[in-house]
Amino acid sequence: MTNLAQLIQDLPKAELHLHIEGSLEPELMFELAKRNELDFPYSSVEEIRNAYQFTQLQDFLDIYYAGMSVLIKEQDFYDLTMAYLKKCDEQNIVHVEIFFDPQGHTERGVSYKTVITGINRALKDGLADFGISYKTILCFLRHLSEEDAIKTLNEAKEFIELIDGVGLDSSEVGNPPSKFKNVFAMAKEAGLKLVAHAGEEGPPEYVEEALSILKIDRLDHGNRSMESESLIEKLKESQMALTVCPLSNLKLCVVNDMKDHPIKSMLDAGLLITVNSDDPSYFGGYLNENYLAIQESLNLSKEMIVTLVKNGFIGSFLSDDEKNRHLDAIDLLV
Ligand code: ADE
Ligand code: ZN
Repeated sequence: MTNLAQLIQDLPKAELHLHIEGSLEPELMFELAKRNELDFPYSSVEEIRNAYQFTQLQDFLDIYYAGMSVLIKEQDFYDLTMAYLKKCDEQNIVHVEIFFDPQGHTERGVSYKTVITGINRALKDGLADFGISYKTILCFLRHLSEEDAIKTLNEAKEFIELIDGVGLDSSEVGNPPSKFKNVFAMAKEAGLKLVAHAGEEGPPEYVEEALSILKIDRLDHGNRSMESESLIEKLKESQMALTVCPLSNLKLCVVNDMKDHPIKSMLDAGLLITVNSDDPSYFGGYLNENYLAIQESLNLSKEMIVTLVKNGFIGSFLSDDEKNRHLDAIDLLV
């Protein structure tokens, strides 16, 4: 292992952009399909993996929603989340802020309660067993209506203490942030943090809307912000955290080559950039593999890696005291 690869492994890290359903490995998917006695279109783990060929976001989403249909019982959501937390423990990830997509389950007849209690029970065990702290972010599926999102938020209110924020994901183009203006205002009123995917495939105007209409606290992806000087200035001025996902961007053809990834230019522009894995089982790597991929392709320095790792905590929804404790621990290591 090179020195920088060892550093990436050794530094305590935070992950802020992780869809828990996107951490469902083919092996567990296959096992759950069997356990739940489902008619499953794939006959082997290899066949599932071979289907992971994407040229755009929608190709992935079609397979992602089909894949999550094996999740039925509370224990399934527990097993899914625990498998991710074990991976975090191996990779020295000490804080996670995970997304979940309740509408991907409730529309199949799985209750919101089943989903959130299974995820939450694993997160509590992960804190006790591995010391991994956590926040939970409920994402609204933007290809569905705002009315459906409001219904989901109302379902979540019974278990409001189990979530920390709301987000917006799924098919971006044609579903601008402004479509969800009211439900984001309701979530803010309920004391929740606000994040949204914007500028992954969608234009810079969608990022503008997420900032000015949804009033987000953090921006997911945001790559296409780099097309607008005024937007770059706004993001820099506000030190808005961006959750960038390099391997996802490569697999979904947001970039054609990792050498063309904008993360270095984003850092150079003074933006608060964090590194994340998005949907690691579909995109070929967890958090450390994302750091390694950009380090190798863009020849990032040790200082840049340390900045990115620190930004993971600075951009998190932890308290200032908790952030400082993590930042001090990093300083002691480098
Ligand atoms: N849902 C899961 N991963 C996503 C992504 N990268 N973009 C939009 N929606 C998603
Ligand atoms: Zn995402």
